[in-house]
Amino acid sequence: MFQTDLLSSQTILVTGGGSGLGRAMAERFGALGARVGVLGRRVEPLEETVAAIRAAGGTAACASADVRDPHGVHLAIDAIEAELGPVNGLVNNAAGNFLSAAEDLSPNAFDSVVRIVLHGTFHTTQDVGKRMIERGTGGTMLSIVTTYAWMGSAFVLPSACAKAGVLAMTRSLAVEWACYGIRNNAIAPGPFPTEGAFSRLMAGDIEEQAKKQIPLGRFGEPGELANLAAYMMSPGAAYMTGECVVLDGGEWLRAGQEFSRYTEYPREAVKQVFGAMRPRK
Ligand code: HXC
Repeated sequence: MFQTDLLSSQTILVTGGGSGLGRAMAERFGALGARVGVLGRRVEPLEETVAAIRAAGGTAACASADVRDPHGVHLAIDAIEAELGPVNGLVNNAAGNFLSAAEDLSPNAFDSVVRIVLHGTFHTTQDVGKRMIERGTGGTMLSIVTTYAWMGSAFVLPSACAKAGVLAMTRSLAVEWACYGIRNNAIAPGPFPTEGAFSRLMAGDIEEQAKKQIPLGRFGEPGELANLAAYMMSPGAAYMTGECVVLDGGEWLRAGQEFSRYTEYPREAVKQVFGAMRPRK
């Protein structure tokens, strides 16, 4: 759906690029001509992403760092720039999450998720942003949040707090850094089946129940998120900043709509009920 050189002017760093949605985006960016740097904690998955991008004819490099450690992040970006040249695109995808009742969270449990998601996003965003500002190149940033960034969600309190913070960071910097030619946007995915997320968040029959709540009747596919991310990172989206695009098959709207429950019944039966309720003249 895109010209194959769509991202050829860009060197894009993807955090958490060794697996799941991060890897899907990294591979798509590589196929569209970007030089792709992937950053994460474990080296092996990062190397697999790099190998896949190179095997498809692209250019890629990786460096290991924990996004919670600003100095480690700085050194990893140095290493990636030494191989690929100046980074002018950043995708904040690395995340941490697990299910827990709020009253059972230890301070360290809350801290570990918030430090990955919120502080980690700040560390990469500030480090890459300073490079873009110093060089005067401008650039494009994209953060992966979730639809509960504005609704909140039971049982994932640290993640909900942190994602809300990332959305606020996105909108704040869209205004503050526009003068440097830096765009800052977000995508809010609903459920996408990846090992990292589903193994931690979907217990029992919750997965089947979740699917039934999605008006389009299925979970998202990583390639669909990669399509949207490629567009939002591309020069074609040059006028978009401070935006958060929802990609959830209509899930969050359905959850909040009073009469959406009627969609659970056969449409003809629903129409008959509506007809029977209509006042007779
Ligand atoms: C309660 C838990 C816990 C759990 C860890 N902790 N898992 N508490 N329930 N399931 C507590 C530990 O006891 C410890 O507190 C503290 O959290 C830190 O745990 P560590 O294992 O030492 O931390 P660390 O190794 O840094 O791991 C971080 C992590 C882990 C967040 C806990 O899950 C992780 O690495 N996740 C990365 C990948 C990931 O989560 N991906 C999914 C993102 S999905 P104490 O007090 O004992 O020291 C996502 C999308 C959601 O975000 C959207 C869906 C629609």
